[in-house]
Amino acid sequence: MSRSAHPAGPRHADVLPEGHYSAPAADLNALDEKVWSRTVTRDADGALTVGGIAVARLAEEFGTPAYFLDESDFRARCRAWADAFGPDADVFYAGKAFLSRAVVRWLKEEGLNLDVCSGGELTTALDAGMPAERIAFHGNNKTVAEIERAVEAGVGRIVLDSFQEIVRVAHIAQRHGVRQRVQIRVTVGVEAHTHEFIATAHEDQKFGIALADGQAAEAVRRALSLDGLELIGVHSHIGSQIFDMAGFEVSARRVVQLLAEIRDEHGVELPEIDLGGGLGIAYTSEDDPREPHEIAKALSDIVTRECEAAKLRTPRISVEPGRAIVGPTAFTLYEVGTIKPLEGLRTYVSVDGGMSDNIRTALYDAEYSVALVSRTSDAGPMLVRVVGKHCESGDIVVKDAFLPADLAPGDLIAVPATGAYCRSMASNYNHALRPPVVAVRDGEARVIVRRETEEDLLRLDVG
Ligand code: LLP
Repeated sequence: MSRSAHPAGPRHADVLPEGHYSAPAADLNALDEKVWSRTVTRDADGALTVGGIAVARLAEEFGTPAYFLDESDFRARCRAWADAFGPDADVFYAGKAFLSRAVVRWLKEEGLNLDVCSGGELTTALDAGMPAERIAFHGNNKTVAEIERAVEAGVGRIVLDSFQEIVRVAHIAQRHGVRQRVQIRVTVGVEAHTHEFIATAHEDQKFGIALADGQAAEAVRRALSLDGLELIGVHSHIGSQIFDMAGFEVSARRVVQLLAEIRDEHGVELPEIDLGGGLGIAYTSEDDPREPHEIAKALSDIVTRECEAAKLRTPRISVEPGRAIVGPTAFTLYEVGTIKPLEGLRTYVSVDGGMSDNIRTALYDAEYSVALVSRTSDAGPMLVRVVGKHCESGDIVVKDAFLPADLAPGDLIAVPATGAYCRSMASNYNHALRPPVVAVRDGEARVIVRRETEEDLLRLDVG
């Protein structure tokens, strides 16, 4: 299969039947507040502004492509999550969605905790002053060196992902003369409604320890027996970009059942449960995400109910939203280059970035919106595919969208909701220079992650 030839085109850029697309928006100049960050609006000249600054000025000062992050929106979303869950719960921002030292400082100031899943993320968190006790350390294959650093730093919790790791962490903690606070990550057998690659709680995958066949119960037995570990709770993460709360409900129920079994067997009531991240955001006008307060209420109701039924004290809940906090707060700004109308099909609009700054479309078939942002236009809608400048036909940023038919090279277009998993998954493919992240707030814009330069490329290539 992988060796067989196939005609160029259909496999890489499938031609969809007519009528597949949703109709163009009634007004192509309108900015749907569901997908744009909160301070985005159009100024009197029709140009998009964020934090009070027009995109033309941003493009001139910082270049394109670039990610512009609406700092006040980011902070407001942090506060909304913290307020929704209240003082009896903990919100851990998932740094994998996007992490930088400025972001760590904002999280710290807004009272959030931080979930890291690599030595690099841990270093960034500590360097920017996040107190170690507010950090949770995740990962299915943490190295011994990473565990050593986390234990030495005194991270608030390490989430144990395997039987081997239970022993590894216990041994390292003992060597350091400490009892490390840990949780055990269990896979609850829920398959969240999401793309196959990012669903994690069904059993045939690499994360966690299955509830099935008493495996999680055995992991608890071992963790409780080791001096180097203080088992504080159980963790479950069921997937990402999820809209349906049903998966979380089943997961919460199963985790509470495990707590009851632990109480019955060991006489201890573990004080915490972590229900992971995974809450969906709007990438297009068709998506309808839940608000943090609805999510908090749904989760706390189900945990309280299940605990009452099992006669357990209600544990402290924690959650780990990444995308839901940072995703909607940024857009990617591109300059339009080549425009290629393909008669009877669609118009290909090439931009100065592509799969190196947003791999999600190629990787998950993700959907995005796009708008002409340097001006408004009265022209009719044109069906477009926004593509990058990389050397492969799968280099698609927005698969199907409508832009004004008078679009021209040099126009600026923006793709909203690129705050999560775009810069953090960016690559140097074709020796592309990864774009900067610019924080915008109250009329001021400042680079928080600078653009890569050709010198950066040459510095890594030792010749
Ligand atoms: N907690 C754990 C243990 C996780 O593994 C993840 C994400 C999160 C929290 C945060 O999930 P969020 O709230 O951001 O959905 N690259 C994919 C997403 C991978 C998510 C991996 N784990 C994407 O671009 O859609």
